[in-house]
Amino acid sequence: MPFVNVNHLFKSYGDSGSYVLNDVSFQINENEFVCVLGHSGCGKSTLLNLLAGFIKPDKGEISVNGQLVSKPSAQRGVVFQDHGLFPWYNILDNVAFGPKALKNKDAYRIAKRLIRMVGLEGYEKTYPSSLSGGMAQRVGIARALATNPQLLLMDEPLGALDAMTREKMRIEILRIWKETKKTVIFITHSIAEAVYLADRVIVLKEGSICMDEKIEMERPRSVHASQFIDYTKKFEKVLFEQNELVMD
Ligand SMILES: Nc1ncnc2c1ncn2[C@@H]1O[C@H](COP(=O)(O)OP(=O)(O)O)[C@@H](O)[C@H]1O
Ligand SMILES: [Mg+2]
Repeated sequence: MPFVNVNHLFKSYGDSGSYVLNDVSFQINENEFVCVLGHSGCGKSTLLNLLAGFIKPDKGEISVNGQLVSKPSAQRGVVFQDHGLFPWYNILDNVAFGPKALKNKDAYRIAKRLIRMVGLEGYEKTYPSSLSGGMAQRVGIARALATNPQLLLMDEPLGALDAMTREKMRIEILRIWKETKKTVIFITHSIAEAVYLADRVIVLKEGSICMDEKIEMERPRSVHASQFIDYTKKFEKVLFEQNELVMD
């Protein structure tokens, strides 16, 4: 049985009459790192919010590890582009928040371990306002992992970072994924980011899946490798159809 099962999902907002997600189905295996790639407005965040259980589909269903998704759950950790840390809590309290809410007596021990894992040991008493964007996003990831979720959902987590930090964070995210063995659904509008990170890329276009492609490359991947460039071109072709016309 697949770990994540998305079954004929339809979603509209208000009474617009048009679907933002139109019959979306896919399966994801445990430990898989899947990127959902698509232009702005194609429905990526809507899909993530449905997976997280923040909103409900009009039709269709999602199950994770055999359980239907009907509301948010500590078993699904979410990381947003805007890290969403509590400004009035220091880093330790931000990360300990989830396990504390679950009355886990080990909340602080877990938080300290995760803060170390994301490379922020020594910053426990620091407040979010004095962190750089990359550091805040590391805290966001630590916080999402603190309830030991089975599934990590990330909505353009590196979108607000500068190019250098983004590259470093890509490497960090892969390291964390290998260390924690989570199943990851990572949303991005960057083709390079998807090809660099994913086991598999699902391309979303105007609310429908138009491509589902395994990335058969060893890690770490080089953006200069011919295979990398081939994948990039393949996704460009699907996302920017007019490219066919301007290529030669
Ligand atoms: N809460 C909402 N109410 C009405 N329309 C929405 C809402 N959220 C998103 N939309 C619309 O749904 C479409 C998909 O949005 P979204 O899922 O955020 O796309 P993406 O994350 O790919 O940029 C867009 O046209 C957006 O304007
Ligand atoms: Mg979005």
